[in-house]
Amino acid sequence: MMLKKVYDFSALETALTDISGELEETFDALLPVPDGGDAKVVEAMRYALFAGGKRLRPFLVRATADLFGVSRTSSLRAGAALECIHTYSLVHDDLPAMDDDDLRRGKPTVHKAFDEATAILAGDALLTFAFEILADESTHADPRVRAALVSLIARASGHHGMVGGQMLDLDAEDKTLGEQEIIRLQQMKTGALIVSSVEAGAVLGKASPHARHALVAYARAVGLAFQIADDLLDHTASEAEMGKATGKDADAGKETLLSLWGEDRAREQARILTEQALGYLEEFGDKAELLRDVAQFAIHRRR
Ligand code: IPE
Ligand code: IPE
Ligand code: MG
Ligand code: MG
Ligand code: MG
Repeated sequence: MMLKKVYDFSALETALTDISGELEETFDALLPVPDGGDAKVVEAMRYALFAGGKRLRPFLVRATADLFGVSRTSSLRAGAALECIHTYSLVHDDLPAMDDDDLRRGKPTVHKAFDEATAILAGDALLTFAFEILADESTHADPRVRAALVSLIARASGHHGMVGGQMLDLDAEDKTLGEQEIIRLQQMKTGALIVSSVEAGAVLGKASPHARHALVAYARAVGLAFQIADDLLDHTASEAEMGKATGKDADAGKETLLSLWGEDRAREQARILTEQALGYLEEFGDKAELLRDVAQFAIHRRR
């Protein structure tokens, strides 16, 4: 008989709660609401940022940076920037022109709570705000490190990465894609920001090229497994658990690795990817325990 392994995510949950609290303090301090007619866009940015979410990307920056003894301020600020970009991607992803969703992180989407134009502007402003945070001296004293972060995260967010993946995703509706095409789409749409979160931690820590490559390989596997889990959850979880509408991919005729492989094979492949991810962490020993936990969480999560 196959015994189902039960994972203890309590240390990870504590770390996620901690980073979540630190992020909220940071956003609160960095984003005061102005007095004038521009207040509405800042209120919409704050609405999106304070709605919660797992804070996975800031966590990945922190957990990776911690391997190299990076200051908590540096990893928090780089993580805050990535969370701004991720949040903007969700605000725009939910717009009527894209996935047309009414619920996100358990609350009405930004275009529902405000209006479409404000949601577009709030997304734009979150994207640019991320680079304002990264470029500031308080993110890292070394300007070469700041420039490397800006370049890395810009590339992961734009047409080479997340935006390019979103374009492929929209283009894929009612189309038949092969396995390699779907994997490329997922790696761009979701993987790129996850990889750049881990890589940002390595850049902050001035990791050796060898260590950086191992961490990138880890993150590529986790990113793909994470998106397979998103697609599985879209298929199996409830709206209440996810805080967003589910069952949308099949309705939209969206080809995913799940639709291609079926549920059993998708789960098995996600498990294999997680095993691969863990293999890349071996050289980091006990220090990488939270990165190991999050690799398991990526596929065993219910949210
Ligand atoms: C949702 O990302 C969109 C994908 C890239 C799969 P998350 O599942 O990380 O969303 P939040 O941040 O927890 O809301
Ligand atoms: C969107 O993927 C990923 C982004 C880059 C925003 P999905 O459209 O599957 O994300 P959810 O399911 O709405 O969170
Ligand atoms: Mg989408
Ligand atoms: Mg969507
Ligand atoms: Mg989805």
